[in-house]
Amino acid sequence: MERKEIITLEEFIIQREKAEEGSGAFSQVLRDIALAARIIHFHVNRAGLEDILGSTGRVNVQGEEVQKLDEFANEVFRKALSRGGQVCMVASEEDEEPTFIENAPAGKYIVLYDPLDGSSNIDVNVPIGSIFSIYQRKDMMRPVQKEDALRKGVEQIAAGYIIYGSSTLLVYTAGNGVNGFTLDPSYGEFFLSHPNIQMPSKLKYYSFNDANFNKFSPEVQRYIEDLRKRAVEEKISSRYVGSLVADFHRNLLKGGLFMYPAVSGKPKLRLLYEANPMAFIVEQAGGAASDGTQNILTIQPQQLHQRVPLFIGPKDEIQKIQSYLLTHQTA
Ligand code: AHG
Ligand code: MN
Ligand code: MN
Repeated sequence: MERKEIITLEEFIIQREKAEEGSGAFSQVLRDIALAARIIHFHVNRAGLEDILGSTGRVNVQGEEVQKLDEFANEVFRKALSRGGQVCMVASEEDEEPTFIENAPAGKYIVLYDPLDGSSNIDVNVPIGSIFSIYQRKDMMRPVQKEDALRKGVEQIAAGYIIYGSSTLLVYTAGNGVNGFTLDPSYGEFFLSHPNIQMPSKLKYYSFNDANFNKFSPEVQRYIEDLRKRAVEEKISSRYVGSLVADFHRNLLKGGLFMYPAVSGKPKLRLLYEANPMAFIVEQAGGAASDGTQNILTIQPQQLHQRVPLFIGPKDEIQKIQSYLLTHQTA
């Protein structure tokens, strides 16, 4: 099939760099991430043939079982980002503490990531992903320290995700729109396939784990009950994959709401590795993200592995949820 536009990720990065007078250092970080994506893609595609499925038998800092692919992807990201000399510190959902990159003490960037999102779907050939979030280091006069990763989402300079789905796609924003690149596995190259992504404002889908319904707060339950009533008339359908990247990607392209409210008062998704990068992307695509009361991007993180309730989708719907949760709050 003929390609509409032949722009590689590499060319796109260089074009943007020229237009925005970037230093080249930031472009190198994106290149390193694209390399990690290609390596993970290769192994995900061979998953049933390599000894890469199943659990390692260990539990991570989140108290979750570590899958072999979680561990593998975590290593790949760390190694890829340690090469270029631009990144002074990385922090991963899988590691308790951040890693200071020894050979790059003067690196200008800090990268946070969820190396493998959707762990429960690895063994069953359902789309999984990787999520990343990039910050510029604030103070170059002193050595970088752990607390330098505790920044509000509004300070991100770039964020993105890779979806290993029916094809592998890298979607990112650097604060100037959202663009998606599809990997052509025969060339090992990402090509621009989804220029300037905008989220449709009309709600077409909602995605949440319905099995948690009885453990949501009464206000969230009321909102969901009303949403279900609207569904027929407004032609809203329900879809839930169980990989944030996959659910988010569909909702971004088609107009959908993803929510993971607190379950028995406990949120699941991670502010720094999952909520913030997706919130930056959604805002750049015309949508919004909230923890139910405030914009995700304005939350000051207190801890590296902090969790938050997440409501993310078309702007009007997120506003509706916020005012709904406020007015239905039980005294
Ligand atoms: P991870 O695999 O990185 O731990 O993330 C899993 C997350 C997210 O991808 C998804 O939206 C959610 O967990 C699914 O949780 P449930 O299985 O509880 O619905
Ligand atoms: Mn995840
Ligand atoms: Mn993960």
